[in-house]
Amino acid sequence: MRQTGTEKRRNFPRFPLTEFTDRKGDLITLREYDHVKDRENLVDMYESFTPENRCLGLPPSTRIGIEMWVDYLAEDGFSVVAEIGEKIVGHCSIVPSEDGKVVDLSIFVHQDYQDRGIGQRMLKKMIEYCKSAGFEGITLITERTNKRAIHVYKKLGFEVVDMHFEYDMYLDLSKV
Ligand SMILES: CC(C)(COP(=O)(O)OP(=O)(O)OC[C@H]1O[C@@H](n2cnc3c(N)ncnc32)[C@H](O)[C@@H]1OP(=O)(O)O)[C@@H](O)C(=O)NCCC(=O)NCCS
Repeated sequence: MRQTGTEKRRNFPRFPLTEFTDRKGDLITLREYDHVKDRENLVDMYESFTPENRCLGLPPSTRIGIEMWVDYLAEDGFSVVAEIGEKIVGHCSIVPSEDGKVVDLSIFVHQDYQDRGIGQRMLKKMIEYCKSAGFEGITLITERTNKRAIHVYKKLGFEVVDMHFEYDMYLDLSKV
């Protein structure tokens, strides 16, 4: 029987809250996303994304489009957010495949907070989380021109598995 998003969500283990200081000296909190409490703040973050920080059409360019995307991620997946004080500055989400073996990952750090080490810390914690949750691997797609994202993904162990149009990348969690 096909799992519904709600059934999938119930199976996600808790994400341990962590704090760290970024390269600029700000205290960052990494914690599980709460769709009731955080939805508006997350949509606000994405609404202020500049066009050059979008990747493969994401985040969507309209508020209603962002809301629909964020609702889909909450329904079918699991997310963590990076916060400075009460402000969400980064978001990393996973959506399991139909068979539940692998997850598809996306990650975005707001342009005012990039290049401070936040993306790498968020990704590293999400990799640890996916491994401890029992997934076999993590897939993602990025644009071949997205040098920073590709650098970060490769640094954390992802390999390019298909480069026909975009870069399809994969991390085998048995190797980390
Ligand atoms: C990609 C992204 C998630 C990375 O998060 P971040 O917090 O900015 O990344 P970090 O600060 O942790 O790390 C950036 C790394 O990229 C490197 N970098 C920066 N610009 C680079 C470039 N043009 N080419 C190669 N490497 C670059 C930095 O030197 C740093 O690497 P280092 O720690 O080895 O020195 C974030 O920049 C982002 O959201 N970008 C826009 C949206 C996007 O591309 N999302 C990915 C979806 S496909």
